[in-house]
Amino acid sequence: MSEITVIGGNASEVLAKRLAKKLNANFISSELRVFPDGESKITITAKPKGKIIVVNSTYPPVDSNFIQTLSLVTKARQFSRQVICVIPYMGYARQDREFLSGEIITLSVIAKLLVAAGASKIIVVDAHSTLGLKHFEIPIKNVSAVPELASYFRRLRLKHPLVVSPDSGGKERAAEFAKHYGTEYIALVKNRDRKTGKVKIISASLDSVRGRDLILVDDMISTGGSIVKAAQFLKRQKCGKIYVACTHALLIDSAGKKIKRAGVSAIISSNTIPGNTSIVDVSGVIAKAI
Ligand code: R5P
Repeated sequence: MSEITVIGGNASEVLAKRLAKKLNANFISSELRVFPDGESKITITAKPKGKIIVVNSTYPPVDSNFIQTLSLVTKARQFSRQVICVIPYMGYARQDREFLSGEIITLSVIAKLLVAAGASKIIVVDAHSTLGLKHFEIPIKNVSAVPELASYFRRLRLKHPLVVSPDSGGKERAAEFAKHYGTEYIALVKNRDRKTGKVKIISASLDSVRGRDLILVDDMISTGGSIVKAAQFLKRQKCGKIYVACTHALLIDSAGKKIKRAGVSAIISSNTIPGNTSIVDVSGVIAKAI
């Protein structure tokens, strides 16, 4: 097999090391220095050989992590024409369309920058939407953590479990989770005010959740607003325990605490973003995609 080098960015070093191990590849770490004015300076610690894979998530500080990713790709391109850029959590993915007139589709700006830096292929995990993938003019592969999350939940003893998407946009994700878990799913109807960002659950009362343990499945948790509203609504329907499964747990500020206060027993996420809830490893699914 031809030689592969994985370069781990500061935001994804542990995941990058796991990926290198799975691929039997060389691993190179990067050293990061952030200047007092916020500029990033990165140094790779060895010379990459063969096909290069750059791994870096773009969770907060989103813009800094993007610049660092672009810098690593630019450096990698000096050594190889084949530079796969793995962005486990792709920031800006929610800015995939012009919701209100005059808005800029920033995801398309990111897509152009990655191509200009020299990426030949992109791999992301559970991209927010398939529409977003269309902004990339190079091959982009969207792999899913959902089967891994579902197998984690299969090991828990849940009472007559039901999978719930907090909004209709997440219906397919909930269906996939339910298929892997081996149960049914439903999707709530959520409304988000595009100006204030406030969310409301506008579903009618539900009998189907009464007494059942629920797994709320989402691609990401940012402020926790969507999950809190969904959990409060579901508790009013007299459900059993509520668990949350998500790929990307950003958990901004005290989102985790707010979610627990709303009646959620546990949040389980993947390691696209490192943190206390990041129990499910995605290095295997990324390795398969490579
Ligand atoms: C929305 O469509 C997404 O799938 C998430 O539900 C949402 O972005 C989560 O954001 P927050 O935690 O701030 O409600």
